[in-house]
Amino acid sequence: MKYHKLVENAGRPKGFWGKLMINSMNKGHVGVTQWGLEHIDFQLNYNVLDVGCGGGKAVAEICEKIGNGKVYGVDYSELCVKKSKKLNKNNILCGKAAIMLASVSDLPFSDNSFDVVTAIETYYFWPDKIKNLKEIYRVLKKDGKILLVFEMLKTDDDPMKWNKVEKTLSIKSVTEDEIKKALADAGYSDVKTYTKKGTTWLCAAAQK
Ligand SMILES: C[S@@+](CC[C@H](N)C(=O)[O-])C[C@H]1O[C@@H](n2cnc3c(N)ncnc32)[C@H](O)[C@@H]1O
Repeated sequence: MKYHKLVENAGRPKGFWGKLMINSMNKGHVGVTQWGLEHIDFQLNYNVLDVGCGGGKAVAEICEKIGNGKVYGVDYSELCVKKSKKLNKNNILCGKAAIMLASVSDLPFSDNSFDVVTAIETYYFWPDKIKNLKEIYRVLKKDGKILLVFEMLKTDDDPMKWNKVEKTLSIKSVTEDEIKKALADAGYSDVKTYTKKGTTWLCAAAQK
């Protein structure tokens, strides 16, 4: 019962269980987030967007990596926006971060706005993956990079590993080939993927 209530809130946290889920994600995703972010060479003046920012931990991590740049976080859960704003209060006050309520389907930014767009543990929930990747492509600057990070990689060793979560949330874990193809189909070049031994973590980076 508790498992279902909690996990059901991963896709769009709200209410009591949503709060618990956000706290749990902010703690539980630290490792995969830090590892994923290592695959981008952040510059001090970068303008970065984190899509599906959840509780805002990645926004805080990225703020540490950019000097006078700016990090935007967007999420379509009102509760996530509230929690992200709270966690990033100081960075928001000094103009280094901004958190907005928005969907990946319709990002409230002009074309060619960002040096990097990150998306951590959120891709599974997107309604139209190729269209949504194209929407990110639109807001990336020329040569800008997208970084997709996953902890639900489907491996040959244990292909059933994610069955319970997949069923509860009506989502699918991902394969390396599928993500490479999706990024190429959405128009990205220089698609690279990375996995971490001993985990089911996957990170994909590609360029506009
Ligand atoms: C599993 S959580 C991951 C949150 C955060 N990135 C992290 O790693 O802790 C997935 C997040 O993606 C958000 N999300 C799902 N679909 C979205 C969409 N279409 N547009 C914006 N955010 C979305 C959810 O509200 C949720 O906060």
